[in-house]
Amino acid sequence: MDNWTLVTGASEGLGAEFARIAAAEGRNLILTARSEDKLNALADELRSDTVEIVVIPADLSDVDDAARLWIEAGKGRRIEVIVNNAGLGRHGALADQGGWARELNSIMVNTVALTYLTKRGAQHMLQHGGGAILNVASVAGFIPGPNMAVYHATKAFALSLSEAVAEELSGSGVTVTALCPGATQTEFFDAADMGGMRLLKLAKPMAARPVAQAGWDAALRGRRVIVTGLLNKLFAFSPRLSPRRLVTFISDKVMGKAR
Ligand SMILES: NC(=O)c1ccc[n+]([C@@H]2O[C@H](COP(=O)([O-])OP(=O)(O)OC[C@H]3O[C@@H](n4cnc5c(N)ncnc54)[C@H](OP(=O)(O)O)[C@@H]3O)[C@@H](O)[C@H]2O)c1
Repeated sequence: MDNWTLVTGASEGLGAEFARIAAAEGRNLILTARSEDKLNALADELRSDTVEIVVIPADLSDVDDAARLWIEAGKGRRIEVIVNNAGLGRHGALADQGGWARELNSIMVNTVALTYLTKRGAQHMLQHGGGAILNVASVAGFIPGPNMAVYHATKAFALSLSEAVAEELSGSGVTVTALCPGATQTEFFDAADMGGMRLLKLAKPMAARPVAQAGWDAALRGRRVIVTGLLNKLFAFSPRLSPRRLVTFISDKVMGKAR
């Protein structure tokens, strides 16, 4: 049974970088996202004599599709690393006019699918001699986020879940790591309609590759939480010393759009 790495949200951004890092280490890869054409292009880029790549398109906002992905991914394969990277958000107040689809999809992908794959992955790894699960949370998980309330709440969920399950699995040979990046140069901001946000004027987003590399290295070392970048570390730490209402007020200013 060969060893495999499963990367969700591998069609672009951080997910594609995780895939490149794993392939450079000679790891076989299962790539998933909805955009089959982009996954196939990445598979063509990364496939080699020593690296096998399998593409399994799936929509992780659909729990049944997440279950199908897991069954297909695990067929005859030992999965030793899972990168739960797929995620999305939407800028705007929760009560703004408009549908509910974007919020629901964010919750389904960022929390439900992530929990499902963490559970199935941990069960599988316990049976197969260990492994590492890397859950991509965010510095958003440390603070409430007016104008991106659902996104911040899903990332708080991902962070809390990862830390708790890491403790449950302590000493088992299976590790869970939460990666908490700050603003990172990917398609995320356009997809989330975040253009013009003050946050993006305050700090230059980090490049995707070093963020993915830091998360990957932390996961292979079994670290529990990794926050990338000095400013982001301050951002993550400062709420611990401040009243929550003040933190939420400042977050509102930062997450708002400049007029
Ligand atoms: N960029 C940042 O500033 C930043 C900061 C902190 C944390 N993060 C987190 O980092 C992770 C990666 O984001 P990114 O910045 O690389 O954003 P991105 O470039 O927008 O990539 C998001 C990925 O998620 C996939 N995805 C979205 N909806 C999906 C669905 N319903 N089913 C399956 N896959 C889906 C997308 O693929 P398809 O569209 O092909 O399905 C894409 O591969 C996310 O969890 C995000 O929350 C990002």
